[in-house]
Amino acid sequence: MRKLFIETYGCQMNEADSGIIASIMGRNGYELVEDPEDADVIIVNTCSVREHAEIRAIGRISQLAAIKKRKPDLVLCVSGCMAQRMKGRIYEIIPNVDVVAGPDSYKRLPELIEEAVSRKGEGSFIDVKLRKDELYSGIEPFQFDRVRAWVTIMRGCNRFCSFCIVPFVRGRERFVPFQEILEELERLAKMGYKEVTFLGQTVNSYRYEDKDFADLLLAASEVEGIERIRFTSPYPLFVTEKMIEAMRVSKKVCPHIHLPVQSASDKILSLMKRGYTIAQYEDVIHKLRDRIPGIAITTDIIVGFPGEEEEDFLATYDFMMRTRFDSAFIFKYSPREGTRATILGDPVPEEEKLRRLEAVIGLQERISEEINKGFIGKDVEVLVECDAKRGEGRLFGRTPHFKSVVFSPGDKTISPGDIVPVRVTDATSHTLLGVYGR
Ligand code: SAH
Ligand code: F3S
Repeated sequence: MRKLFIETYGCQMNEADSGIIASIMGRNGYELVEDPEDADVIIVNTCSVREHAEIRAIGRISQLAAIKKRKPDLVLCVSGCMAQRMKGRIYEIIPNVDVVAGPDSYKRLPELIEEAVSRKGEGSFIDVKLRKDELYSGIEPFQFDRVRAWVTIMRGCNRFCSFCIVPFVRGRERFVPFQEILEELERLAKMGYKEVTFLGQTVNSYRYEDKDFADLLLAASEVEGIERIRFTSPYPLFVTEKMIEAMRVSKKVCPHIHLPVQSASDKILSLMKRGYTIAQYEDVIHKLRDRIPGIAITTDIIVGFPGEEEEDFLATYDFMMRTRFDSAFIFKYSPREGTRATILGDPVPEEEKLRRLEAVIGLQERISEEINKGFIGKDVEVLVECDAKRGEGRLFGRTPHFKSVVFSPGDKTISPGDIVPVRVTDATSHTLLGVYGR
């Protein structure tokens, strides 16, 4: 067996894609190793959503390329969204890279690697073709996590939000057949997985023949052994009554939704081409909270989008105060070549972006802490994932509301994958702390 090391940057979709890559490579005689120094082949699966993500990946690839000085036969591959975006330019930046493969080219990786080996790295081995039908059917992706499994139900995106590179590097939307998803769930359940997360860029736009996303949630809830169903990220416009009802009636669909809002200024939402007003978004939130009391709602926010004036920023700030998200990922706008927002320039100065970023992060920290402190004294159900980072025998897991929990098991023997009751004794903005038992 040849030895393969994979490192992943970016979103859950990329983690799931690394699982597809690992499975394809596994069928071609590769086994995974944990240390890049041991590898015959290194694949860095990259993200291109913000410039910062690319700079980090390039730094890391250059570092890994240095191993080739000692091991000239090592094959270095760059895959994923940045590979798709930069194409052959990657060779100009890091000449030691052998293979470049975009998100629809993973099946060609073994062949490209073979060519790179047989031609001793002479020439470039690149495939960045977008294949509009590629769904990696029948691949049975490898799961890097032992407790939570990813299930990609769609690939690509049709929305073209003006800031976003994803539709350019992942192509148009396409959906995994309904039955195939259910078969994958059965397979995962047999392997012992209790939690699955459906993945897609606009995951709730899912449709296949006469079935939609709500039908999928309900059918998935019937799969024996699967106890928790999550999904990310839904698009606000596609949250239907039927979808909310499916979330409400299913005991397995977790009471949590990650619903990116991006901004609360209608002017900015319109420049972003999001297709909704803040009133429409808020209406969705009200419906969700009304029908699923206590549902946790998290979001994505971009600050410093071109044209964002103080009043637009304050609209977002006020909206966050009023909506009280459980948590939020907050990003500084990063112009992406080729997207429509680039014609607006990047007029918000870096220090102003940073000020806005810090202001909303601070606000969200306070809100998250208040919400989490509300759990003190309550019992939560935790799916145990691993030992807590700052160990001392404590364990880490998550509640149905997607709250991270660190707890002491007492004298109880608890393993990853167990679902256990925990009494919450304290909370910070990011974590609930507690002890095993009721
Ligand atoms: N629909 C996707 C979104 C992918 S990008 C999903 O499944 O989550 C994830 C987040 O990155 C977006 O919601 C947005 O908040 C942020 N983002 C995307 N492009 C960006 C850019 N050019 N600058 C800053 N943040 C960006
Ligand atoms: Fe990007 Fe908007 Fe699609 S954020 S992934 S273009 S929904």
